[in-house]
Amino acid sequence: MKNMKSLLEEAGKIIQISNFTIAFTGAGISVESGIPPFRGEHGLWNKYDPQVLDLGYFLNNSERSWLYIREIFYDFFAEAKPNQAHRVLANLESNKLLNAVVTQNIDNLHYEAGSKTVYEFHGNSKKLKCLKCGQVYDAKDIDFENIPPKCVHDGEVLKPDFIFFGEGIPHDAYADSFAAAEKAEVCIIVGSTGEVTPASYVPRTAKQAGATIIEINPDETIFTSSITDIHLKGKAAETLNKLQEILF
Ligand code: APR
Repeated sequence: MKNMKSLLEEAGKIIQISNFTIAFTGAGISVESGIPPFRGEHGLWNKYDPQVLDLGYFLNNSERSWLYIREIFYDFFAEAKPNQAHRVLANLESNKLLNAVVTQNIDNLHYEAGSKTVYEFHGNSKKLKCLKCGQVYDAKDIDFENIPPKCVHDGEVLKPDFIFFGEGIPHDAYADSFAAAEKAEVCIIVGSTGEVTPASYVPRTAKQAGATIIEINPDETIFTSSITDIHLKGKAAETLNKLQEILF
């Protein structure tokens, strides 16, 4: 059984020689920013019913849905800041050691950490959209005291610009993510159970295209036993920080 130091050195060498590297991130990378994951011991789905993010339910119960959405995604997320894990991925990109981040997260923290090429597979909570006229609003301009928020043009309920269960993946994010996965020589999976599709097909596509899979997660996941080549068993911030120390 190799120890963490030798695994980190092995991962560092592979990243150094890779011509195209992507990161695939999930809720686990934002846990150290204070945002709870969806699954696991302190998972949001233990406390809230995922139904509030079902598109059909939202359209028929927008006020009730919005009360939970505000609590989960605007009260919680609003103050969250990028942590060292987000910053290391941005540093890897600026040092030409990472080409793209494919994220399932809607918290905008990769952009706030300085990453430039980010494919947001599930959208972004910082924008809201009118379901009737398509007008886009910035979350910081919305008065969340009045729920559900309404469009100033036609009074229609606004929906957060992230995807709900039952909704399609944003076309460009989908196409860009799989195109990057096909080209990847390395895919670094950070903080995802891999339980949600089609997002979890992104690292699987990279694997099928011949990429080496490096997984950063304190736990084992369905990726670990199926596609992971190097499992760096640890939290995202400290593990990526150690990797950065090896790389530059
Ligand atoms: N560092 C790294 N990984 C961590 C940390 C940490 N500090 N803390 C927890 N994790 C790991 C957990 O072990 C788990 O494997 O992060 C993962 C979180 O899993 P999920 O909550 O299922 O997150 P994710 O895989 O991103 O969920 C995918 O599900 O509900 C939908 O749309 C939502 O994007 C989300 C999707």
